[in-house]
Amino acid sequence: MSSFEQVATLADFGTGDRIAVVFDDRAVVVFRIGTDLYAVEDVCSHDGQPLTDGPLSNGSVECPRHGARFDLKTGHPLCMPAVEPINVYRVKLEGDNVLLGVSMSDSMLPLPVATDSCPVPPLPEVAATPAVTDPAKPVDEGQLLDALRQVIDPELMINIVDLGLVYAVALEDATVKVEMTLTSPACPAGPQIVGQSKQALERIAGVKAAEIKLVLSPPWTPERMTDEARDQLGIF
Ligand code: FES
Repeated sequence: MSSFEQVATLADFGTGDRIAVVFDDRAVVVFRIGTDLYAVEDVCSHDGQPLTDGPLSNGSVECPRHGARFDLKTGHPLCMPAVEPINVYRVKLEGDNVLLGVSMSDSMLPLPVATDSCPVPPLPEVAATPAVTDPAKPVDEGQLLDALRQVIDPELMINIVDLGLVYAVALEDATVKVEMTLTSPACPAGPQIVGQSKQALERIAGVKAAEIKLVLSPPWTPERMTDEARDQLGIF
């Protein structure tokens, strides 16, 4: 095929801000924002939902099914549960004709960590942790991790252990020391996650204090999730 191909005219938008077209044998949606046009593949990379009806905001489109958002210029996912980019296409106008070209997509760039820019629901309360009944019994790492599993990331609704946020946990003289990270450096739920982690650990008999250290290196990536967490998010 030639590098650019006409797929529509400006009149096809009518009073709307988008049109669905077929280009290169793929469903594509072309968005009009002011005088700019953007074309992306009309398939959410999370679970195949068409993006045609997705709301637009700040140069991104939101998947109407589970709320992932994609940058219209690069196709990069800005918000979980999507972790893969979508294809983007070059757009140009010739008179009133809308032409699309196959893009050397920016989606070939390294996958970024999802940002915190999606709405974050309130963090659920940590359920009461059954205390270790025998204080003489040493606390083991399994108990510490079980306590941390009660802390749920409010954006993904996955516990922080299965999400891969906990990098290290150790008990030293009745003080639990934890190194953990967040799904993005500016995650607004960070203070709550840290607070609930501390709370969950300090409920264990034999634990006097919990020190939670947030680290940003290495950064969290979706590969750190357990298979169970990936299944829950529909990532295969
Ligand atoms: S199908 Fe789009 S976010 Fe799940």
